[in-house]
Amino acid sequence: MIARFHNPVDTRLGYNSLVELASITENQKVALVIFPEARGLGLVDRIQDLLGERLIYIVEDVQPNPDVAQLRGTYERFWQEAGDCQTVIAVGGGSAIDTAKALIVGTQSGRFDELVALLATGRPFVPAHSKALIAVPTTAGTGSEVTPWATIWDTEGQKKYSLHLDCTWPKVAIVDPGLMLTVPAGVTVSTGLDALSHALESIWNINANPVSDTFAISAIEDILECLPLLRHDLGSKELRSRMALAALKAGLAFSNTKTALAHSISYEMTLRHGLPHGIACSFTLPLVLGLAWGRDEARDRVLKRVFGKDLDEAQAQLRNFLHSLDVKTEFADYGVTQEEAREMIEFALQGARGRNFIGAHAA
Ligand SMILES: NC(=O)c1ccc[n+]([C@@H]2O[C@H](COP(=O)([O-])OP(=O)(O)OC[C@H]3O[C@@H](n4cnc5c(N)ncnc54)[C@H](O)[C@@H]3O)[C@@H](O)[C@H]2O)c1
Repeated sequence: MIARFHNPVDTRLGYNSLVELASITENQKVALVIFPEARGLGLVDRIQDLLGERLIYIVEDVQPNPDVAQLRGTYERFWQEAGDCQTVIAVGGGSAIDTAKALIVGTQSGRFDELVALLATGRPFVPAHSKALIAVPTTAGTGSEVTPWATIWDTEGQKKYSLHLDCTWPKVAIVDPGLMLTVPAGVTVSTGLDALSHALESIWNINANPVSDTFAISAIEDILECLPLLRHDLGSKELRSRMALAALKAGLAFSNTKTALAHSISYEMTLRHGLPHGIACSFTLPLVLGLAWGRDEARDRVLKRVFGKDLDEAQAQLRNFLHSLDVKTEFADYGVTQEEAREMIEFALQGARGRNFIGAHAA
C-alpha cells in the first residue's frame, strides 16, 4: 500500500516566533482575531507594535465554541468594515482560530446566513471571496493551526457544522510557546487532553498511515509525561514548549486522518451537557480504546507500542492518567444514564467522524 501525507501549512515553531508576523505580512492590510483576555495581557499592544498601520481591524469578543448566534454579527461587520484586507491573523485557542476560519470565507451577499446555508448542504463549495489565514495558537490543544477544519456550533438548534475548504488551511502557523504561559490550569489540562484525543483518534482511524502514526505516537508519549507536570508548574518554559510541540504533532497526525469516535461522542456531550471540548473528547478514551483493540492487526501493533500488550492494563493506564488530572471517565459521572450513553455511542458511530473509527462496522 502506498501511504500519502499532505499538509500545506508553512509552520514556524519556537519562543518569540510571534515576531515573524511582521515579515510575513509585509505590504498587506491585515485583520486580527484575538481571544478576549489578550488585551489585558498586553498581547494586543505587542501585535499592534509589530504590524503598525497594516493592522486595520480587530475582533476581540471571541466566545468559547464559536456559535452561529454570535458569529452572524461579527461576520457581517468584518466583511463591511475590513472587506479590503488580504490576511486575517488568528491569535488564540481553537475558538479564535475557528472564528477566523469562518470569517475568511466570503459569501456573495456578505450575509452569514448564506454561509450557514452552504454548510448545511454538507457539500464542498467555492466561496465568492476569501482571505489568507495566519494561525497563532495560544493554547496547546486543538491543532487548528495545521488543519483546514472549523467547528461552528448552533447551540440553540442543537447542531454543529463542519467548515472545510481549500482556503481554510492556514497559510502559515506560528507556534510560540511563550504565548501559552498565561493559560490557566483548567484550560491547560482540557486543551492538552484535546491533543491527546487527536493523537489517539488518528491511530484508531481508517485513514491512518505510517506518517500520521509517527506524529501521533510521539505526541502521546510527550503528553502522558508532560501534562501532569505542567499542571503543577504552569510557568515552566520547557514544559510549555514540549506541550506546544506535542499539540502540533497531534494536529499534524489528525490533519490527515480526521478524528473518530471519541470526537463524534464529544459533540453530543458538548451540545447536550455543556462539557468543554477537551474533556468531552477525552473522558471516553479508555472506553474507545477497548472498542478499537482487536479490530485490526496493524492498528493493534501501533496501540501496543504506546500502551504495551495487555488491554486491561492499557485502559487502566489511560484511566489513571485522566483521574490524576481530575477528569472523570464514566458517562454516569456526567449525569448520563447507561441507556442514554448506549444511544449516544450508536448515534456517534453513524456520524461522519464516527465512521472513521476502525471499529465502526463491528462495534
Ligand atoms: N479546527 C480544529 O481542527 C479544531 C480541533 C479541536 C477543537 N476545535 C475547536 O476549538 C474550540 C476550543 O478551543 P480551545 O480548547 O483552544 O479553547 P478556547 O479557544 O475556547 O480557549 C479557552 C479559554 O482560554 C482562553 N485563552 C486562550 N489562550 C489563552 C492564553 N494564552 N492565556 C489566557 N487565556 C487564554 C480563551 O479566551 C478562552 O476563555 C472549540 O470550539 C472546538 O470545537 C477545533
